[in-house]
Amino acid sequence: MERLDKILANTGRWSRKEVRELVRAGRVTVNGTVARSPEEKWDPSAQFVVDGELVSGERLVYLMLHKPAGLVSATEDPRQPTVLELLPDHLKRVGLFPAGRLDKDTEGLLLLTNDGEMAHRLLAPRRHVDKVYFVRVDGQLNQADVDTFAAGMTLGDGLVCMPAGLELLEEPDTALVTLREGKYHQIKRMLASRGKPVRYLKRLTMGPLSLDPKLELGQWRPLTGEELDALRAVAGL
Ligand code: URA
Repeated sequence: MERLDKILANTGRWSRKEVRELVRAGRVTVNGTVARSPEEKWDPSAQFVVDGELVSGERLVYLMLHKPAGLVSATEDPRQPTVLELLPDHLKRVGLFPAGRLDKDTEGLLLLTNDGEMAHRLLAPRRHVDKVYFVRVDGQLNQADVDTFAAGMTLGDGLVCMPAGLELLEEPDTALVTLREGKYHQIKRMLASRGKPVRYLKRLTMGPLSLDPKLELGQWRPLTGEELDALRAVAGL
């Protein structure tokens, strides 16, 4: 049993304060009866209706974040700030975690969700969910790098990499890298093994999701219905 304000705030749609106002205004019903108090305790699987709309107490949330450098892709860390610090308080409590990590100094598209099943499926290499990154290196990239990436690489430290895409861009120190997996520091290690250390890395896409150009660094938004449908399709859900 949990307090009504907590259950509804956990959906990520309202803060606790907003829930209190909704309840006070008589806009919330539980199991068909107008809720009397935000403090009253209910089973989270009860039927909650706000302004006539059924809202599940255990809602799944999906956010697209434009991750800035300087934050770790984790839900908590003893020493360093995490990406969750970019979210308002009511979204910090709905169990969101990053579906796939970006390094602390990497920017770009990060999916935050509390849907464990979806995250697990998107990250499974056999699902072939491509991720595309923009990269800038020290040095110049060339066709030999492209061919080596395409063939699959086994690095000096033993890391085995599936074939990956490397598309050279106009500036010779930049490229687009396409990966189907996400091993620890993978792009940095692949390019370091070519003698071209990464200076800047940004994830642009993840399967059908593309970083929204309207999102500034550090901004986020919920996925649209179409984005969610597309993700569900690649995840086989
Ligand atoms: N590869 C890396 O090296 N770092 C990232 O953050 C993502 C892919």
